[in-house]
Amino acid sequence: MNVVILAAGMGKRMRSELPKVLHELAGKPMLGHVLDTCRSLSPGRIVVVYGHGGDQVPTALASSDIAWALQSPQLGTGHAVMQAAPHLDDSVPTLILYGDVPLTTPDTLRRLVTAAGPAQLGLLTVDLPDPTGYGRIVRGPSSAQHTQTPAQDLRGPILRIVEHKDADPATLRIAEVNTGIMVAPTAHLKRWLSKLSNSNAQQEYYLTDIVGMAVSEGIPVVGAQPAAVWETLGVNSKAQLAELERVHQRRVADTLLDAGVGLADPARIDVRGTLTAGRDCFIDVNCVFEGTVVLGDGVRIGANCVLHDARIDSHTDILPMCHIDQAQVGAGSRIGPFARLRPGTVLGEDNHVGNFVEMKNTKMAAHSKANHLAYVGDAVVGARVNIGAGTITCNYDGANKHQTIIEDDAFIGSDTQLVAPVTVGKGATLGAGTTLTRNAPPGELTISRAKQTSIAGWKRPVKIKTPSKD
Ligand code: UD1
Ligand code: CA
Repeated sequence: MNVVILAAGMGKRMRSELPKVLHELAGKPMLGHVLDTCRSLSPGRIVVVYGHGGDQVPTALASSDIAWALQSPQLGTGHAVMQAAPHLDDSVPTLILYGDVPLTTPDTLRRLVTAAGPAQLGLLTVDLPDPTGYGRIVRGPSSAQHTQTPAQDLRGPILRIVEHKDADPATLRIAEVNTGIMVAPTAHLKRWLSKLSNSNAQQEYYLTDIVGMAVSEGIPVVGAQPAAVWETLGVNSKAQLAELERVHQRRVADTLLDAGVGLADPARIDVRGTLTAGRDCFIDVNCVFEGTVVLGDGVRIGANCVLHDARIDSHTDILPMCHIDQAQVGAGSRIGPFARLRPGTVLGEDNHVGNFVEMKNTKMAAHSKANHLAYVGDAVVGARVNIGAGTITCNYDGANKHQTIIEDDAFIGSDTQLVAPVTVGKGATLGAGTTLTRNAPPGELTISRAKQTSIAGWKRPVKIKTPSKD
């Protein structure tokens, strides 16, 4: 089939410079969600109708499988589909989606497409407690022969759609509305589009007018309903976007729970990408997962952690308040609380990286520790190394970055500065407070420290009394 996605509207109520369909849900533009759903149906052609915001939309979602049709000015949904018409293959039906309706499931769309088949017009409709603003589905009287079928099929045949602004009071009471999603036989669709007029309350070319045309030509119009109302909800404001974000996140949380992942609160997790977790993982409240995050078996993530493109191997504990970005942590490790692992950090097994430790582009082998207040950047750290509190790799000379190498079994005393490029040899010990500017030989104690003295009889200065003014 062909798929047309309408994405030209301006979304005034978003109060934003950004075109509406580029606003993100779960870290991805709404239109990106619609495209993902669309691609899962393997359509022959995808046409996106864009307009408001100019090239921003095609630029943001550029892909070789999309044909872009510019609609300018925007004269209504029918006019929008007209712009896509030249790209459509007449031999297969055309499914029409909205770029601002991000959560429709492939299942629901498949059901609609199957119900309509190649020769009928299919509409996705839904009953709303408050149908204000929507086009209403006007049906004829029901016939008695459908008594064995579900309640919705007892309804009479669809006759036409009447837009809210064109509806009389009786029509306004109809609860069944047009979601806007429909599928049509393409050759008919093109013909109907060419006959649309804009003589209506909004002086727009209404796509919905094709329904009356189909009926008058004797082409059946079938309705299908989504599994859930939120599948059909569009976004016109930040409030509606926030609402759908929560719907989406709740679904992701439910999928994780079903897969056996423990969540302290399924309402307090945000996955903006893909989170894959092994058996017996547990995630405490307010964690954010961005990009691709992979957790091994038995991983525990404490409260308020943000993980972006990260891999955490089995049985590692990430304690609360950690930020892990483009980094990997080996099995059986303990990270945090308050650790920051920056891009290029690759930790081995049984590493301990503690509070207020920042690591960047650092490889650390098994059983090494940096438990308190350290900056380790551009470093290669061996196995069983202990990095004391307050240790800093001085990796940047103001112009270039340099590497620090700390070999196996080294012990770095507290408050040490390692002025890179520099190497600490295997088994070396650095005394607390050392400023290391040359390599430390293996197995020896290296220390740079002013000799400690005490001055006998020294007196503290005393504050001089100045006479008061009065
Ligand atoms: C439309 C339907 C209405 C339905 C409602 C569901 C028509 C005439 N009416 O209402 O029956 O209940 O959707 O939300 O079709 N768009 C364009 N170009 C345009 C106009 C719209 O690309 O010229 C896009 C918008 O960006 C949006 C979608 O089409 O994604 C729907 O437009 P919107 O104005 O929200 O829908 P209505 O016309 O109010
Ligand atoms: Ca709308």
